[in-house]
Amino acid sequence: MAPTAFVAPQAVSTSTFKDDIFKGKVLFCTGGGSGICRGMTEAIMRHGASATIVGRKLDRLTQAAKELSEATGQKCIPCQADVRQSKTLQEAVAKTIETFGRIDFVICGAAGNFLAPISGLSENAFKTVMEIDTLGTFHTIKATIPHLRATKGAYIHVSAMLHYRATPYQAHVSAAKAAIDALSAVVAVEEGPHGVRSNVIAPGAISGTEGMDRLEGKGSQARDSFYPLGRWGAIDDCANAAVFLFSPAASYISGQILPVDGASEHLRTLV
Ligand code: HXC
Repeated sequence: MAPTAFVAPQAVSTSTFKDDIFKGKVLFCTGGGSGICRGMTEAIMRHGASATIVGRKLDRLTQAAKELSEATGQKCIPCQADVRQSKTLQEAVAKTIETFGRIDFVICGAAGNFLAPISGLSENAFKTVMEIDTLGTFHTIKATIPHLRATKGAYIHVSAMLHYRATPYQAHVSAAKAAIDALSAVVAVEEGPHGVRSNVIAPGAISGTEGMDRLEGKGSQARDSFYPLGRWGAIDDCANAAVFLFSPAASYISGQILPVDGASEHLRTLV
């Protein structure tokens, strides 16, 4: 008897969207090896897409790609690249095209962060975050625009909420994220005629992320009670927002910033 062909496990989406809305689509995600971007990648793969995840640490990326493929039944490849260097990013894009033949969706998510007052920031410290976040986004856009034009695809840029008001010890990140918001809006306007959309997801306090661990420490029930919805956000909250923005349900939404912060930005306390 002929051996039974291996059939990859088909993950069942738990979202409110149809399971196969991204069937045949390809995602290219910088920063996809961990945290929010990994969660977004998994959610998009669960709806049928293949993916490339890009980052600096090959061990972590390789493990993440394996786990994402196993969890979703879709193909995920790791590509080591430093978004600060356009050449390595172009190589990651070339590998994606060689493997999958197309790119439909791009998440610009690679980011760096640490707490430091502006008086304690060296020129190199400021430049490092600007280069990872902003220049990295620029390089990712430049390397992928021709492919998104070909598929009439879409960008999601991962920004933050901290620069809409002044957040102490975050001058470098605030400047970088404000620039990312601006880049996304320009891409939406310039590339709209080519059928390409560009939006920003601005996460608030999201538990289980390196960013919040660095900035705030681990979440606690006492702290959660101060948030309007009674909790910090979850990676899944950002992932669901990404599924929506890439889906046909968002086909006339471009150039926007979507906060995923549970209304925290609006909160004013009496004391
Ligand atoms: C002051 C610091 C510092 C700190 C680094 N530097 N940490 N300055 N206070 N805590 C300075 C260094 O002294 C150096 O300047 C310069 O920054 C570059 O540091 P390197 O370590 O050489 O850079 P690199 O190895 O490229 O690391 C980049 C990094 C690192 C950003 C510094 O933390 C990193 O790679 N992080 C990636 C992971 C991460 O942070 N993810 C979370 C993103 S979350 P000198 O002058 O000494 O040469 C996010 C959203 C936040 O962005 C929103 C939450 C609400």
